[in-house]
Order: sequence, then C-alpha cells, then structure tokens
Amino acid sequence: MSERIDGVEVVECTRCPALCDARSQIVNGVGTTTPPILFVGEAPGATEDREGEPFVGRSGTVLNEALRNRGLARRDVRITNCVRCRPPENRDPHTDELANCREHLEREIDGVDPTVIVTLGRVPSEHLLERDVTVTNEAGDVIERRIGGEPRRIVICVHPAATLYDRSQEETFASAIDTAVSLVGGDVGGQARLGDF
Ligand code: URA
Repeated sequence: MSERIDGVEVVECTRCPALCDARSQIVNGVGTTTPPILFVGEAPGATEDREGEPFVGRSGTVLNEALRNRGLARRDVRITNCVRCRPPENRDPHTDELANCREHLEREIDGVDPTVIVTLGRVPSEHLLERDVTVTNEAGDVIERRIGGEPRRIVICVHPAATLYDRSQEETFASAIDTAVSLVGGDVGGQARLGDF
C-alpha cells in the first residue's frame, strides 16, 4: 500500500483497489483551514473527479447558492467528502471504502477543527453518526458526537441534489443550513469580506 499525506491532504493512497482503478485523481477537501462550518458529502462524482474539487457539479451549484444567500463564499467554509475517490458508476461507497477513508476524514476534522459539521445526505450522516439516519425526517437535528479526538456538533442535512429531484426538499435543505449558520453565530464570512478588498 502506498500512501503520502501532506497536512490534511491525501497526496497518494492505494487503500481501495476499485476506487484507485476508477479515479482520475484524489479529491481533497477545499476551503479555509479554520472553518466555522465543515460540509461533509459522500464521494466525488464525475465532475469532481475531473476537476479535483468537491461539489463542483450540479450539487455544488445548489450548495454555492445556499452559501451565497447567507453572505458566504466557499472559501469561508470547508467542503469535503467521506470518500476522496470517485466510486465507479457513481455507486455508493462500500463499507470497506468508507472505513479505509475514515482516517483521512478524521485527520481533516482534527486538523481544521470546525465549529459545526454539516452532513450532506444519508451516507455521511450515517457514517459520522454510526447509526441509521432518515435524513428527510432528521434534517436540522443537531447531534453531539465524538469524532476522532473531540466531541463535535453535527447538523444533519439532506443532500443538495435532493432539492433538484424533489422541490419539497428545498425548504428542508435551507432550514438545516440556517441551523448550522445560526450555531456559528457571527463567526462566518469575515475572510471573504477581507479578501474582497
Ligand atoms: N456529491 C457528493 O456527495 N460529493 C461531491 O463532491 C459531489 C456530489
């Protein structure tokens, strides 16, 4: 197994043979390294695999707009995935793949120390909470859970793509994001504002 880590970035990793075969590149988290909010998705899709950045496809457009509506830019927060390599055919990541990538995710969470974690969809919600989650019912719930070394606050959220397929999820998505933003209070947006001058 070959592996190279640089801070919270995984430069080289061959833990999952099927994902190594299918990926174009490893997709690390992006955004500030001192995030008030860390968004955790499932795994890169085709666009993310090509561009090397999480949430840059259609789901990313929904997430970006939700951030923008609250005066935030991607660089004000951090965005990552449970699994850093694109699963073939966009299938869900397998249990062993989630487990293999868990150390990378925990290193990132410990390293960037977010005030709040928002889980985008069922897979990251179940992965971090280690139980079954019905995201449509539980979206907006705030749960404390020890992850890696520290107790963390997690806000369950529906996946942004859910709003594209089911308009009734738009309100659920928006109100979970509002909950996360209200939990971090005024501690967001400063870096974008400074950077804009
Ligand atoms: N969906 C995810 O869960 N992650 C991405 O990076 C893109 C889409």
